[in-house]
Amino acid sequence: MKSTHLLAATAAAMLCSTAAYADSLTLYCSADEAWCQQIKTGFEEKTGITVDMTRKSSGETYAQVRAEASNPKGDVWWGGTGDPHLQAAEEDLTVAYESPMRGELHDWAIKQAEAAGNKTIGVYSGALGFGYNKDLLAKNNLPEPKCWADLIKPEFKGQIQIANPNSSGTAYTMLATMVQLFGEDEGFEYMKALHKNVNQYTKSGSAPIKAAGLGETTVGIVFMHDAVAQTAAGFPIVTVAPCEGTGYEIGSMSLIKGARNEEAAKQFYDWALSAEMQSKAKDVKSFQLPSNKSAEVSELTPDLSSIKLIDYDFKKYGSSEERKRLLAKWDTEVSSLPQ
Ligand code: G6P
Repeated sequence: MKSTHLLAATAAAMLCSTAAYADSLTLYCSADEAWCQQIKTGFEEKTGITVDMTRKSSGETYAQVRAEASNPKGDVWWGGTGDPHLQAAEEDLTVAYESPMRGELHDWAIKQAEAAGNKTIGVYSGALGFGYNKDLLAKNNLPEPKCWADLIKPEFKGQIQIANPNSSGTAYTMLATMVQLFGEDEGFEYMKALHKNVNQYTKSGSAPIKAAGLGETTVGIVFMHDAVAQTAAGFPIVTVAPCEGTGYEIGSMSLIKGARNEEAAKQFYDWALSAEMQSKAKDVKSFQLPSNKSAEVSELTPDLSSIKLIDYDFKKYGSSEERKRLLAKWDTEVSSLPQ
């Protein structure tokens, strides 16, 4: 082969390998499996980029990104509650990016970005609450729970399921909500009283309401949209917005520092903020409020303006120090107690 041909062949091979490299994306996804799958397939179809997707809960994904910091394997972390995304931003595990799509978003999504020097951004929102299986409630002769206070009554012993706040962003939102709603001392007293009634701490945040749908527990403490999804799937679940008021999440997205496929990750990021992408969530029964103002909202999406919401301090409860402190306190003062 002449040297010019050899050069051309080498250049072509290099181009090919660069292209192959850019044609894949490693996605860490912290929303429900069905939505994560839809997003993987949707982005692959849209761009031809192969997506290697792993679904893990918010706290678990944060821990993974942190453990991999010296040799990052993930490119983009999409979904899951905002608090661990804020913690990752503070710990410099993620990078700043200002997407051209920002102008299309609700203020609350931008506020989340501003709280983290643009190292994260809001992709959806949803209020915390609980759901119960009305057939089991009747069978167990239990009164209809309407308030957080009802869930710590002795008659609910063994009837309640919630996730572990170390792995689950949903359960951490619950812990931080109780502290903000009742004050730290009373909030922890509440979590201790609740502990007596909990039959299982699950890994994933939405697992408790799926279990309630299947009749394995009467009550599941989850985001309200997760309870609504079970009703939409045909299970006898009633969704409750607790009477005292409640916290909420800003489901977030972040680009992982040192990403191997940075360009593909940015392409994904821009797409994930589009109305087109967000409008499809309801097709897989994900009824969060989308962050793009033009995205279609399902009529089943809980109306946040009609729910008594606390002024959740995302900056404080998403800070590394506070999140670590509250989780350690929950481990020693709540989960270690006998039931
Ligand atoms: C469910 C909800 C999401 C939430 C996520 C957190 O998938 O639908 O809105 O962000 O749970 O998951 P985790 O397992 O961390 O509680």
